[in-house]
Parts: sequence; structure tokens; C-alpha cells
Amino acid sequence: MIRDGGNPRGGHAPLPGRLRAIGAVVLLATAACEPLADASAYPAGWPFSPRTPAVDADSAMVATVDAHATRVGVEVLRRGGNAVDAAVATAFALAVVNPEAGNLGGGGFMVIRLADGSSHALDFRERAPLAATRDMYLDERGELTNASRRGHLAAGVPGTVMGLWEAHQRFGTVGWAELLAPAIGLAGGFTVESGLARSLGRAAESLSRYPASREAFLPGGEPPAEGEIFRQPDLMRALARIRSRGPDGFYRGETARLIVREMRRGGGIITAEDLASYTARWREPVRVNYRGYTFHSMPPPSSGGATLALISNILEDHELSRLGFHSAAGVHVLAEALRRAYADRNEYLADPDYVELPLERFVSEAYASERGADISPFAATPSSRVGPGALLTEGTETTHLSVVDPEGNAVALTTTINSLYGSRVTVEGAGFLLNNEMDDFTARPGSPNLYGLVQGERNAIEPGKRMLSAMTPTVVEDPEGNLLMVVGSPGGSTIITTVFQVISNVLDFGMSLPQAVNAPRVHHQHLPDRIQFERGGLPPAVVDSLRAMGHEMDERRGTSGDVKAILVLPEGSLAGYADPRRGGLAAGF
Ligand code: GLY
Repeated sequence: MIRDGGNPRGGHAPLPGRLRAIGAVVLLATAACEPLADASAYPAGWPFSPRTPAVDADSAMVATVDAHATRVGVEVLRRGGNAVDAAVATAFALAVVNPEAGNLGGGGFMVIRLADGSSHALDFRERAPLAATRDMYLDERGELTNASRRGHLAAGVPGTVMGLWEAHQRFGTVGWAELLAPAIGLAGGFTVESGLARSLGRAAESLSRYPASREAFLPGGEPPAEGEIFRQPDLMRALARIRSRGPDGFYRGETARLIVREMRRGGGIITAEDLASYTARWREPVRVNYRGYTFHSMPPPSSGGATLALISNILEDHELSRLGFHSAAGVHVLAEALRRAYADRNEYLADPDYVELPLERFVSEAYASERGADISPFAATPSSRVGPGALLTEGTETTHLSVVDPEGNAVALTTTINSLYGSRVTVEGAGFLLNNEMDDFTARPGSPNLYGLVQGERNAIEPGKRMLSAMTPTVVEDPEGNLLMVVGSPGGSTIITTVFQVISNVLDFGMSLPQAVNAPRVHHQHLPDRIQFERGGLPPAVVDSLRAMGHEMDERRGTSGDVKAILVLPEGSLAGYADPRRGGLAAGF
């Protein structure tokens, strides 16, 4: 038996069907034409192996952070549901088994690429409550408080239930109630795996400060241990209301009343009107051409697709593959592109329903050529000298799942409650956590948010506005227009750079999917002005060379991102992989 590689959660059931290792030689023949990265490209001591096999399947695949949730999606596909059906059922299952990020109380983005080649982007991002004000997180001295991160005021109006409903209304084929049934079953009780036990253990202290969170997630005062059956009766009833009444079972009636009551209890401001007026929005996907491949990704109010486009367009002029994977010259050029793209992201992008965005120019190759023209191959440009580009002068914690169905429809779905366990506030009587997405707004221009992002005026808080996101659910087509890859990640501001590097590792460096995902990652977001890299992720000699070029180097305490991806192999079968950074399962048939 071959399991998805290096999975710290472990304990997966045997996978169905023809599982086998994906040899590097096979992937050498994929669309990527550069030589396969040598395994020694991983630095000594890096914890993830370049030889981990992918999970292989003939025609359908689901990859998520949790084995229970993956199995729900695979079962929907086996019964004839399509990729959207599977994504909806899997997302509801994640709301039960992955409370740190899966959710009813958050929001997200979905990119769908149908087998006919059309692509669609669904925005179900949280919105600022109608009573929100620009300076609501400043104290009387004008200093930032912690209220955008913890507690009731941190929550934006949730979008997940409406988003999953909208996707199902437009593309679903299986009955809504059938898609809710597995999540309801799991809420009735499921066996806790080690990853969840550890995660709840780490969050126990902060969850215990909120009575309903304590009751829901720390039964008997302790987080459930590995192997215990974890029951969530309030959440089960909340899901049952959604099953019978659709979005009205969440945005109106009992659940809406419970949310408003919870708000009153803790000084929050989400009202019945906020909930009843919430809508999800279909948007035009960002489409990027990179070396003949096409990326379909999420447009604003996520910055993911547009920033991915700018990074890719700048780097298209720099031939990463010639510089070598994680050579000092390669990381330098990558960081310079990221620095410039994030400077523009942080300044210009926001909710397009509130702010005029220079999107066409932002994603254009012409602008990227200008923007990247001053990248020196030898020396870092300090971020203080990289302001936002001239875009307007011309007039203008989170979880990701990937699904491919037997027809070739693909879904990339990223949802979030922002940081792990969101605001830490559980809606009493409804058993789900509320997001702390309000922290993704610019609470005060010039001040960093939770992810250290220094964002601009355009992303200031306004009633009903959607806060800027970095979520980057993405589907990649090969130069012939065939489905090649489905990919996405959590990780706050690092999501975009994670998604780009995994795609680039496959396309530019010829890596297998597990190699591309397991490879160490770097990050730059303009400010703070430093290259962040995963612990042990760059050889000391490369770090020294980058320092000599003028880069400040910041070794993170841990890892970055958590990719769940599917790659179509040359013969048409599928490789799936669940990033071992947080674990999970890819499975298919
Ligand atoms: N809350 C993280 C993001 O949306 O980017």
C-alpha cells in the first residue's frame, strides 16, 4: 500500500484502486520540458522527501487536509456526482472535521474549470458588517487594538454557506440534502486523528476564554484525544437546518438568531440585516499566460489571481529554469519579482465593488515588463525604493481542496476563517467558530496586519465591503488547452507565493507533484523588506550569497503554506498530493 507521502496525520485507510508511485521519469515527460530537479536540490536536513510518491488514480481525485473529508468527496464522485458536488460535500465535511480552518462561519473563493474549457470564479468572501467603521479597531489614542483578531468584533459576515449553495445551484447535479448528509453524520461523531488532537491542544487556552468554544471544542475541559469519538451536536443541528432550508437555514431563522445573540453577548456588530442581505458573487476569473500555459485564478476581492499574474509575467522575462532551483541567483530574482508584485498588491487591490481597480493593466504583460525592468541580477533593491508602480496614471488560516471528476471538470476551492480557529468565538447553540477576517482590511494605513502586510487606503473598512484576500485557488491548462493542474493553499499573505512556486516547480524545474509541493519555499511581500524562508529551507551558502546581494534573510520558525494539488499525467491519469506540512489525504479512483 502506498499512502500519501510523509503525512504526519497518518492513520489513513487503504486507498482504493491502482495506487502506485509516480516515478520521476514519468513526470519528466509531462508538459514541463526542463530537466528534472536533482534530489540534491533539497537542502541537507530538509524534513520532506523528494522521493515521496503521489497518489495515482485513473479518472477522479480529491485532495484535502483531512482524510475524513477526502473520503466524503471521493464517495460523492463514485456515486456520479461531479467535481462541484464533491467540492460542496467536502467543504461541509471540513467544517466538521477541520475546525481550525474548515468552516460555516467564514468565507472563501472557488475556481471551477469545466471539461468544456470554460472557467468560472465564485466570490463568497466575508463582508464588513453594515455598522462597521473605518477606525473601529483604533483606541482613543489612535493606536491599533487586538479587536480585529480576537473576539466578536473581529468577525465579518460569513459567506461560506451562500457560496456553496450558489455553486451547487449553478453546477450541481446531486441533491443538496445528499451533499449535507456526510457532514451531518460526521458532526454526530467521528474518530479524532492525531493532527486534530494536536491542533486543538495548541488552541485550547485561547478557545477556553469563550464559553461556547470551550463547550464545543474542549468537552470536559480538555481537547479530545487521538482515537476518541468527537461529537458536535449543536453543529449537527445547524447543518441540518442548512440541509432542509438551504441558505435560509443559516442566514435567516434559528441560526441567524443564534449568531445575532452571540454578537450581543460579546459586543459584536453583525445584525440580522447583515445576514439576510449577504450575497455571493460570480466574477470573471483572472487568466494568465505563462510560457504557453494558462492559469485560471481568483480575481479581486482576492488579490491571489492578479498578483499571481504579475509575478508570473515579471518572471517570464527571467527564465527561472536557467538560474537553477534555489540557486542564490534564482531566489534573488524570485524575491525581486515578489517584492514588486506585493508593493502593487498592497497599494492597489481591494473590493472591486467599492474601489476602481486598474486590473487590466495590473495583469498585463506590458506592465510586468516595465515593473521588472529595474531588477538587477546582482543586488537587492530595498523595498523603500520600490513604491507602488504607475498603475493608475493610464486612466486607469484557511484550507484548500482540489477536485477533478471523471468528466474532467475541476474545482479549486479555498475557504477560511483567517487565522487558525478564527476569532476563537463559537456561536452558542450553533457550534461553529466565527472568522476574524476583519483583520484583512487595512485597520490603519501603514500598520501591518496579522501577516505583516502593510496595505493601503483602498482596502480601508467600509460597511458591507469585502476585505482583500490572498487566496489563490488556481487551475492550470497546458499549451493545448487541456487541464493540467489544480492547486491552492492556506497561509495568509504567503498563499500567492506558495501557489506560484509549486506551479513553477512543475513547469520550470520539471519536478514531480510531490517534489514540487515538498520543496522548501521562500516568500517576499515588499514589507517587511526581507526574504522569508522555511526553517532549514535554504542551504547556508545560498543564504550567505543572498545577504551579500543586500537581502535581509528571515528564517521562519516553521513551514509555510499547505498545498493540496492534482496533476494530470501525460497518459491522462491523475496524480494527487496532500502537502505533509499539515497532512491530509489525496485519494481517487
Ligand atoms: N485570511 C487570509 C486571506 O484571505 O488572505
